[in-house]
Amino acid sequence: MVKKEADGAIVDLGVAFPRYFVKHDALAAARDVDPAKFRFGLGCEEMTFCGPGEDTVTLAATAAWNVLRQKTGRLERVGLCIVGTESGVDGSKSVASHVHGLLRLPPTCRVFDIQHACYGATAGIQMARAWVSRHPSQLALVIASDIARYERYSAGEPTQGAGAVALLIGSTETEDICLTFSNISGMHASDVYDFWRPTYQKTAVVRGKFSISCYLEGMVAAYEHYMEQIQHEESTPTLQLFHAPFPHMARKAHRRLWEHRGLDPETWEPAYTRWVAPSLWANRRIGNIYTGSVYLSLAALFELEGEALQDRDVALFSYGSGSCSEYFTGRFGAHTATPRILEHLNAREEVDVEQYELLSERSLALESNGSFAATSLQSELTDVERPFIFLGIRDHERVYLQNEADWQSGCFVAARLQTSESIPTVPVVEPALTSSVQHSQLDGAIS
Ligand code: COA
Repeated sequence: MVKKEADGAIVDLGVAFPRYFVKHDALAAARDVDPAKFRFGLGCEEMTFCGPGEDTVTLAATAAWNVLRQKTGRLERVGLCIVGTESGVDGSKSVASHVHGLLRLPPTCRVFDIQHACYGATAGIQMARAWVSRHPSQLALVIASDIARYERYSAGEPTQGAGAVALLIGSTETEDICLTFSNISGMHASDVYDFWRPTYQKTAVVRGKFSISCYLEGMVAAYEHYMEQIQHEESTPTLQLFHAPFPHMARKAHRRLWEHRGLDPETWEPAYTRWVAPSLWANRRIGNIYTGSVYLSLAALFELEGEALQDRDVALFSYGSGSCSEYFTGRFGAHTATPRILEHLNAREEVDVEQYELLSERSLALESNGSFAATSLQSELTDVERPFIFLGIRDHERVYLQNEADWQSGCFVAARLQTSESIPTVPVVEPALTSSVQHSQLDGAIS
């Protein structure tokens, strides 16, 4: 891997998933499809989806909190917060600004979103690396947060999913590092309509087979661009992480690259089983999380392999429909990330297909102005131990609850108050309060 002297690299990562999931076998039965198609044709086992109270913001804030809470003092050092998303909650206000408010990141923090289908987070990481090399004492937070929604009964429905991965980027000069990156990227862009979501709808429009061919062409072109720049002097890492809108897309990608490289056609499958498939275990149980998919595979690899990854090289391929492709490489460092994916997966609730349809509808019902008035729903939403809850929209403004009860049982307040003698008692806030009202209450309580 081509290295630089000092660089921005991944210091740690955290994940967040919604509360509910439905098994693909149940979905197949309800859609009158052979379950083997979802399980073996697409490689999916469980589909996680957003119920009421969950959205791109709550997922992003929770993933960010899950990485920041792992070490005291991190939150105060965040000087850049980028959210990569294609399921933003507003045509103008960024998800990053909501995250900034909910986590109370420093006021001097630079915050913004990057949207380019499933490529946004990778663009964010590259920007964050450059920023960190100029601000080595600070940390950048890059959050990939998305909800993949397709029409019910469509070919895309079984590839839905939702979740967030928060990556903490710090300087190789000052931090213990999980993953450093090559300073060379192979790029390929192409103006295509393979997958998109018009602003007037919540579900994506997709030319499924065409999107697969655009992905594979983009990958080969980006790989070639990378190889040209390194003048074919390095060997390609055996470990490979591919953007995985459904797990078997990574299989297709690995096979295509294998063929493109002119390797023995008899050996692509054992190589896939050994080097690619292990990182896909979480993708199989979450579904598509768009721009976070490849980073979910990275998190899953950390969880599976731990310290065995140290000094290993890895190749990453990121694809965003529309399209932008990037192929780059990395090397694992001495620090091992512990995202606790399995713990988060086991905390979800399984529902049947009827409940999945109902809960999805109720989640979407909160997306219209005036939804906040549904007070009976609010008590139900706040009756759950989640750090951030979306309560609906009032006067065109989204209302979020920072779940104080959860903060007290966890360590949010403790982390913010590392210099205080004791954790103050913060009253559980009435659901009717807006986030800004709540901020002032908290500020009063902790000052
Ligand atoms: N048992 C096992 N496998 C089966 C099967 C069965 N009974 N029936 C079908 N399959 C296999 C197919 O052979 C195919 O595998 P292959 O691609 O290796 O040949 C796979 O299951 C999917 O079947 P297919 O008929 O192609 O599915 P589809 O027309 O329903 O569409 C997608 C699949 C991925 C195109 C669709 O889910 C989609 O549009 N997804 C969203 C877009 C996306 O993710 N694009 C990726 C690039 S960004």
